[in-house]
Amino acid sequence: MKGKILIAYFSQTGNTKKLAGMIGSETGGDLAEIAENGSIKADLSQYDIVFIGTPNWAATMTPAVRNFLSASDLSGKTVAPFCTHGMGGLQNVASDIEKLCPNSKVLKSFAVKGVEVDSARDKVKAWLADIGLL
Ligand SMILES: Cc1cc2nc3c(=O)[nH]c(=O)nc-3n(C[C@H](O)[C@H](O)[C@H](O)COP(=O)(O)O)c2cc1C
Repeated sequence: MKGKILIAYFSQTGNTKKLAGMIGSETGGDLAEIAENGSIKADLSQYDIVFIGTPNWAATMTPAVRNFLSASDLSGKTVAPFCTHGMGGLQNVASDIEKLCPNSKVLKSFAVKGVEVDSARDKVKAWLADIGLL
């Protein structure tokens, strides 16, 4: 393990929440849901690695996740973006998250179709291995 892991995510209909849960169970990281206003019940200063999970809304992150990143200082931390989507894939999700984390090391991101989340565990594990966090 490379440091303490937080999985911060927003989910409206549960797909991204399920994906966050898989990442949590594979990495042993803590889970924290991002509220509509961007707040989370977690002390960010405790964590070295922060996964950021969001549904793809209109080709980018949801407003809740944008609010969270705008209000948070992730300087010096490692960030790993992930998303669920309808069919568009990441589109601008990862690049827009990266813009809001100018002083973080942003790892390769991961995307899965919302309807395929239940069968995505192997893909999740392959991604985590690829980014060195499994
Ligand atoms: C307001 C809104 C906008 C969306 N825009 C996109 C989009 O641009 N591209 C895409 O692939 N999916 C889009 N979707 C589909 C969601 O990304 C997808 O259903 C996702 O898995 C929902 O995640 P959740 O269950 O965690 O809320 C949109 C869904 C909503 C509700």
